[in-house]
Amino acid sequence: MKICVLPGDGIGPEIMAQAVRVLNALDLQFEMEEALVGGCAVDATGNPLPEATLQLARAADAILLGAVGGPKWDSHPRNQRPELGLLGIRKELALFANLRPAILYPELANASTLKPEIVAGLDILIVRELTGDIYFGQPRGIELREVNGESQRVGWNTMIYAEYEIRRILRVAFEAAMKRGKRLCSVDKMNVLETTQLWRDIAIEVSKEFPEVELTHMLVDNAAMQLVRNPKQFDVMVTGNMFGDILSDEASMLTGSIGMLPSASLNADNKGMYEPSHGSAPDIAGKDLANPLATILSAAMMLRYTFNQEAAAQRIERAVKKVLAQGYRTGDIYEPGTKRVGTREMGDAVLAAL
Ligand code: NAI
Ligand code: MG
Repeated sequence: MKICVLPGDGIGPEIMAQAVRVLNALDLQFEMEEALVGGCAVDATGNPLPEATLQLARAADAILLGAVGGPKWDSHPRNQRPELGLLGIRKELALFANLRPAILYPELANASTLKPEIVAGLDILIVRELTGDIYFGQPRGIELREVNGESQRVGWNTMIYAEYEIRRILRVAFEAAMKRGKRLCSVDKMNVLETTQLWRDIAIEVSKEFPEVELTHMLVDNAAMQLVRNPKQFDVMVTGNMFGDILSDEASMLTGSIGMLPSASLNADNKGMYEPSHGSAPDIAGKDLANPLATILSAAMMLRYTFNQEAAAQRIERAVKKVLAQGYRTGDIYEPGTKRVGTREMGDAVLAAL
């Protein structure tokens, strides 16, 4: 089990240190190698994704990433932007499946802006296609055209999916549903868009390979509404790149706590990059204030999806639940009456719970 560890910038090194401690506490044999990505890589080499990092990422089974970016690099030229490090890895490894769980632990029910009874116990997974759709479709552009007898600027994009792209993301979603509550909701806009009519047809075809999973379909506008009306009706949701971008951010906010949310981006070989959903939090970097749980939970996702170590993944997730039940809270999830701890102490608590 080869892991490429990329701490990155800002709070990245602090939260990564805790995730690495947790992984080392399991009785599993990992080979971990660390490399530079993002702003720290720009400082050291002038390149946000140095060749050595890319080679290490290619050679590993999984990549565990902290976060990249910060004000220090905001004025750098386009080709030295820290995010290029992440985008480069996604592209090079063809990480087409983005998995974002939104889990609200009962202890954190007050962190959400929604009523506790709507969100307490929420546990859903959004599977978003990451390398196709209108974000990458050709042709695209802005140009002057003759419209109504006058020359105007016109902008256009192409929403396009090939059958194999839809099929492979649906398989990932069905497989994820098999490991969870065996219910999958496929989100489309088939009443208006041919691309998503094809999506729905293929979802029905692929469902024949997974007879144990109950497949439902929902139009995206209704899905957006249902996510805030009654989010607990969902188990796994699967959708295209654009709808998934919007719905996964909406779902993450149901939990109200960015410091708790992991993510995975997988390719066809179940190789993946695992990272917290939040950024590098420059405002609290280097102060031992950051919540390491999103990164620790990302490591659990890595064990589940790349290494097929479901028991170890659940051990980590149970340890996280336990520390929350014991009242340990970093600043982002603190409420009066709980125990405020720093990044390292939160790591200590998870290790003790393990
Ligand atoms: P952010 O997620 O870094 O921070 C937003 C707010 O949440 C801040 O107040 C921060 O202190 C807090 N926060 C984030 N993670 C936390 C944690 N683990 N524990 C406690 N509090 C936490 O987003 P922001 O401020 O928009 O971006 C900061 C930098 O991060 C930018 O340079 C941005 O480009 C980069 N970024 C990187 C991402 C990545 O590496 N995947 C994703 C999003 C932003
Ligand atoms: Mg987004």
